[in-house]
Amino acid sequence: MGTSKRAPLVAPSLLGADFLRLGEEVEMVNESAAGWLHLDVMDGVFVPNLSFGLPVVEHVKRVARKPLDVHLMIARGECYVEAFRAAGADVLTVHAEAVTHLHRVVEKIKETGALAGVALNPGTPLVVLEEVLPLLDVVLLMSVNPGFGGQRFIESSVDKVARLRQMIDGRGCKALIEVDGGVTVETGRRLVAAGAEVLVAGSFVFRSPAPSRSINELKECNAWKQ
Ligand code: DX5
Ligand code: ZN
Repeated sequence: MGTSKRAPLVAPSLLGADFLRLGEEVEMVNESAAGWLHLDVMDGVFVPNLSFGLPVVEHVKRVARKPLDVHLMIARGECYVEAFRAAGADVLTVHAEAVTHLHRVVEKIKETGALAGVALNPGTPLVVLEEVLPLLDVVLLMSVNPGFGGQRFIESSVDKVARLRQMIDGRGCKALIEVDGGVTVETGRRLVAAGAEVLVAGSFVFRSPAPSRSINELKECNAWKQ
């Protein structure tokens, strides 16, 4: 098992980068095998941490040559859809737990022309996706509780990916399964075997002595026999 899977798309998470060298870090991602560049926007309300917002996304967009995968961990995300799209988001993901009118927000994202994603916390069941799944381009499963990089991977996420895979395939939907939190080669292999298609990685990439090689290692997570 595992070898027949396609190579995952790797999305290095800028939260793990050295912010004093942000331009160089983005350039490393530009030159790498990464598919997307993941940006975590936090407001200190929905999650117990603050990160960065629109000005940083705008500046990164000027130098990034990979699509920007913007992960909104903020309250009232629906009010910022157009602004993050204008700042350069190519994929825009909101948390199901943070918006009241999930269907409306997803439609709004799609109207801007961005790919639309919905993220679920580890404690949120897949059933909340039921009504919007056919509309989605991406489902982002959190494999840690959102807010911080460098946390320990929650093991039950692998089974959750497998169940989501069945749900998507069974209904003939197109949404990509993206996993975020505690991703390494070891967890990445099991996630890809379970059906994940996009691997977000902060610490594993940016704390590595050879970030570009670490991205390559994640891309090869499909070439693994269980
Ligand atoms: C966590 C963020 C992640 C984070 C992942 O709230 O959504 O994108 O950067 O970091 P690692 O890969 O270190 O768990
Ligand atoms: Zn994220």
